[in-house]
Amino acid sequence: MVGLCVWVVLFTLANEATGSVIIYPHASGPPASNKFKVYVSQGGRKHDSFTYITTSDKRSHETSSAHPGRSMSFTSFSFTGGAVTVEVHTQRDFHNCIVRPKSYNYHCRRTGTKVAQFTVSNTEKWMSVEFDYDYGSSNGGPDITDRLLVFADPPETHKPNKNDNSVLYYDVGIHNLHGPKQLDSHIKEVYLAPGAYVQGGFKTTGNQPVKIYGRGILSTATYTWHDPRFQWAMIDIDKGHSHVLEGIIMVDPVKYFYRGLSDHNTVRYVKMVGSWAYNSDGIGIGHDGLVEDCFISANDDALKVYTDNMVARRVVIWQMQNGAVFQNGWWSGRDMKKVRISDIDVIHTDWCTFKGSNCHISDNDAVFDLAGNTKHFAMNDIVFTNIRVEGTCPRIVYWKMANGASGAASNVHIINLSVESQPGHDSLHNEIAGNSGGRVTNWQFNNFKIGGKCISGAAQADFHIDANTTSNIRFNCGGAIIG
Ligand SMILES: *[C@@H]1O[C@H](CO)[C@@H](O)[C@H](O)[C@H]1NC(C)=O
Ligand SMILES: *[C@@H]1O[C@H](CO)[C@@H](O)[C@H](O)[C@H]1NC(C)=O
Repeated sequence: MVGLCVWVVLFTLANEATGSVIIYPHASGPPASNKFKVYVSQGGRKHDSFTYITTSDKRSHETSSAHPGRSMSFTSFSFTGGAVTVEVHTQRDFHNCIVRPKSYNYHCRRTGTKVAQFTVSNTEKWMSVEFDYDYGSSNGGPDITDRLLVFADPPETHKPNKNDNSVLYYDVGIHNLHGPKQLDSHIKEVYLAPGAYVQGGFKTTGNQPVKIYGRGILSTATYTWHDPRFQWAMIDIDKGHSHVLEGIIMVDPVKYFYRGLSDHNTVRYVKMVGSWAYNSDGIGIGHDGLVEDCFISANDDALKVYTDNMVARRVVIWQMQNGAVFQNGWWSGRDMKKVRISDIDVIHTDWCTFKGSNCHISDNDAVFDLAGNTKHFAMNDIVFTNIRVEGTCPRIVYWKMANGASGAASNVHIINLSVESQPGHDSLHNEIAGNSGGRVTNWQFNNFKIGGKCISGAAQADFHIDANTTSNIRFNCGGAIIG
């Protein structure tokens, strides 16, 4: 009996001793958020987690697509051992607060005047904390004015040698790259240490794989929107193959956040914030690409679903005023098979914000979308599983082939799609159609729920399905029937 008690005490002590919060340093220069302060504690010890801020005003002077007066504050940290408590200090008092994604089941509670707390039990969690004085409206009103994102990273497992000349090492501090830095054939790794604040981007010019990683920040906030020195994206790695982008935060893009159409690339633990203007696409990746455990705030397509064997899983998406969550269009042809996308939390779809209650949205705005003038289709074996859309979603599916289309988009399975609500006015109906010789065949929506109710027919979810150019589009409830 005594022996057992001693064992329990020792075990508990050992367990506490192994857990710790990993707080990152920060460079002097980037301003701290004036909207939120964030503290992280574990076992009674409280740490200040430096909270950055990005604001929309500069972009709003450069393009009318950016709305002035918005901000996103963000902080990141890591931990080992047991759960941590995150404490947020706000500028205004509130009654209620929410942590999204709701699927995390992290409950925000007010613990004092202008103080909120929630418990984070795991890393690889990308959270938006929202307060009732600023919930925004996805149904015509303004969006959330001052956002707060809290990122719980996994601990770092590797730091490169600073003196290795195949490594570009950015330590704590501000580094201005004066445009995108070319990664020529001798560079194998680019490391952004925690606290590094790198102004610029990266572009591969050699054929070798490059790993860009760390817990630092890459920002193009100081660059002009559409700066022509950036060809496509902040991270432009079409050249080469098997590139890895891991762990960093990317802020305020001048074009896309990431374009890596080379093959076998990975994007993991990356957080994309400050997408104030149009063309802030999230990720376009080449065949056999993997996107996992990321946060994407996009103001254009969040995920380009373009290439064979693409896998995307455990991604949290904040879709701003423009673009699709999953985009299949834009290019002249869509030849693609064996795509697997799963466990995606879409925490906001802001297409109708600022537009009044009878909002009209562009053809490229939907969760599942086909935009542009794509003419040739050989699309087959695409599976989406466990897709959760929070809030009022103006449009779920807008998938209409262009005039003169040929070929087929076949065998698309959407399993466990849940949407909190849709506004249900006719200008925003969902639609699936082929065109000319182009056909849409065998699409199955299995266990598709809106407001918790399973959809067993097209009309129930306000779908227009063109009978002439589609076949076997089915809505199945009650068991995972995979046709
Ligand atoms: C779909 O959801 C059900 C109920 O939540 C779950 O049991 C099932 O495993 C899910 N299907 C897949 C393929 O994940
Ligand atoms: C479908 O085909 C019928 C018969 O050819 C035609 O009358 C109708 O307009 C077509 N519908 C669409 C949506 O093209």
